[in-house]
This record gives sequence, structure tokens and C-alpha cells, in this order.
Amino acid sequence: MWLRVCPWWLGYFLICPYRKKLQDPEAILSPYLKPGMKAVDFGSAMGFFSLTMAKLVGDSEKVYCIDIQKRMLSRLMKRATKSGFEKIIETKLVEKKENNFVDLKNTADFALLFAVAHEVPDREMLFKDLYNILKSGGILLFSEPSDHVKKEAFEKSLSFAMKTGFSQKEELTIKGGRSVLLEKK
Ligand SMILES: C[S@@+](CC[C@H](N)C(=O)[O-])C[C@H]1O[C@@H](n2cnc3c(N)ncnc32)[C@H](O)[C@@H]1O
Repeated sequence: MWLRVCPWWLGYFLICPYRKKLQDPEAILSPYLKPGMKAVDFGSAMGFFSLTMAKLVGDSEKVYCIDIQKRMLSRLMKRATKSGFEKIIETKLVEKKENNFVDLKNTADFALLFAVAHEVPDREMLFKDLYNILKSGGILLFSEPSDHVKKEAFEKSLSFAMKTGFSQKEELTIKGGRSVLLEKK
């Protein structure tokens, strides 16, 4: 299983406009993310998805972008400011191992975990944290890249999610990945 954290400079490749041809953030997110929702982009990097999330939730709402790399988040904030989303997007740098995101408890209607879980050593804790961040009935879109996350590893992550209390709503078809929609009951 791949556990290396994506280096900060790869963040520039992740926001490259050509990626939209494969994974269009608006097409992926707009069925679930609506105006007035609060959202979390967990492992946001430089915000390939975060800016679209801000556009979809609207001016009076928040998108919390969480990452362990300061350089990813500072670049994301520059992009958010340039696009006029600086009041909607709030970055959160994970500094301590035992963070638990108490300030976000039961806050989010929607969370995105896209191409991140395979970089996190304690995936059981990762899904517990996401479960706590979401409101009851909140949705988690979980996706992993199919090239370096094999089916068994994806299913193992999914088993941690189920153990935490998530239920699977549906399997999603997103190019380049294995993806599911989970719900906090
Ligand atoms: C491959 S990138 C994916 C970025 C983004 N979700 C996307 O699809 O463009 C993975 C990101 O997750 C972040 N990450 C890794 N482990 C993390 C953790 N424990 N908590 C928060 N972010 C983490 C990395 O720093 C990196 O920015």
C-alpha cells in the first residue's frame, strides 16, 4: 500500500487544467453540493476541488480545506483570493497527530476525501474524524486513484468507514478512480 505523502510541488500538477477533462469538479460535485451547505475538502492540496466547492455552496457558507502541508494551503488561499472565494474558503493545517477536529464537530453537510486515504497511516482514525465532522445525514464522497490503490486496499478503507458507522449510498463512476458515496446515519 502506497503511504508516501504527495510532495508539495506535485500540487501544481494536481491543479493543471487538463485534469478537468478526466475529472471535472463541477460534474462530480454538483449533484451533491448545493447552496447553503457547509463542506470539507479533506486533503485539499492546492484546491483542485475546493474552488468549485466554494462556488457551489455560495457566498454565505464555508468550505473548510484541511491538509498537512502548509505550502499546499498557502497556494490554495492565493488561488481562492484571486477567484473571490477568500471569505468562503478557510484552511486548516493539521499539525498534531491527535487533532480530532473538535472545532468542526457535526458541522459539515458534505465532505470530500479524494485521492488522500492511501497517504494516511491511520485510516480508521481518518474515517472517525470525518464521521465526527459531518452532521447526521451528511455525505462523504470517497475516491481513490485506481492505478496505485488496488481493489483490496480500497475495500479495506471502506471497511473502516463502515465500522465507524457510515453506510454506502452508491458506487460512483469517476474516471481514474474507485469511488463511493457514503452517508452518516
Ligand atoms: C494526492 S493529494 C490529493 C489532493 C486533492 N484531494 C486532489 O484530488 O487534487 C493528497 C493530499 O492529501 C494531503 N494529506 C496527506 N495526509 C493527510 C492527512 N493525514 N491529513 C490531511 N491531509 C493529508 C497531502 O498533503 C496532499 O495534499
